[in-house]
Amino acid sequence: MKKIIITGMTSGIGKALYDEFSKTYFLIGISNDVKNDLSKDTKVKIRCNLTDLDQVKKINFRRILKSEDKVIFINNAASIGNVKMVGSFKINELVKITNLNFISSIIIIQKIISSVKNKNITFFNMTTGAANHPIRGWSLYCSTKAASKMFFEVIREEFPEINVINFDPGIVDTGMQKKIRTSDKSHFPDVDKFKKYKNNNQLKSVSEITNEIKQILKL
Ligand SMILES: NC(=O)c1ccc[n+]([C@@H]2O[C@H](COP(=O)([O-])OP(=O)(O)OC[C@H]3O[C@@H](n4cnc5c(N)ncnc54)[C@H](OP(=O)(O)O)[C@@H]3O)[C@@H](O)[C@H]2O)c1
Repeated sequence: MKKIIITGMTSGIGKALYDEFSKTYFLIGISNDVKNDLSKDTKVKIRCNLTDLDQVKKINFRRILKSEDKVIFINNAASIGNVKMVGSFKINELVKITNLNFISSIIIIQKIISSVKNKNITFFNMTTGAANHPIRGWSLYCSTKAASKMFFEVIREEFPEINVINFDPGIVDTGMQKKIRTSDKSHFPDVDKFKKYKNNNQLKSVSEITNEIKQILKL
């Protein structure tokens, strides 16, 4: 059976994908802001704060995934964190962002690889232009997303039978962009550029992105 696992499905792109794909497919959503719900046959929800690795370690796919399943994992949950210059981060916040944007997905991927023995797997990573070039004020986001992107590239080398996709959606109208627009200019000099994107209606909608992803994944 085709099963889609998605992290961060309570808002933004993740919510749009979950809502669309759960009409037709077996969906497993992992998010901080949901109640655990393993009772539904095809709409499983797992509550997990992905900044907390003890919670991530406890995610158990054994009752949900079968070795013969065809699994698509959409690595979506991420946060830009606090937009500010290096030197002003508390240790706690940099650990949380690194866990959310990078480490948690590695733990989930390892669980999927060990559960789906036939390796009929697609790993679909939501990447960003910020993974490819430095942006002032975004050090944690740029670096964790770059690390994540490279991790997926290495999976492609190690497991040629697994389909690996790094997908950059562009600039999308979500809570993440809203947060970016509230950044302090002294920490994020480009803030006006992002306000203009919004004012000039240059942001993509989550439904456009959902359609693009549907086509890429042939869903
Ligand atoms: N928006 C853009 O312009 C843009 C551009 C390039 C790439 N991307 C990438 O696209 C993906 C989705 O971004 P988005 O714009 O849709 O972001 P978003 O609106 O901020 O949504 C992020 C999702 O991650 C979840 N999440 C946050 N912290 C979590 C935690 N500790 N544990 C579990 N789930 C957590 C959120 O849940 P809550 O709502 O419950 O916090 C939400 O469902 C990200 O990987 C991002 O890097 C976005």
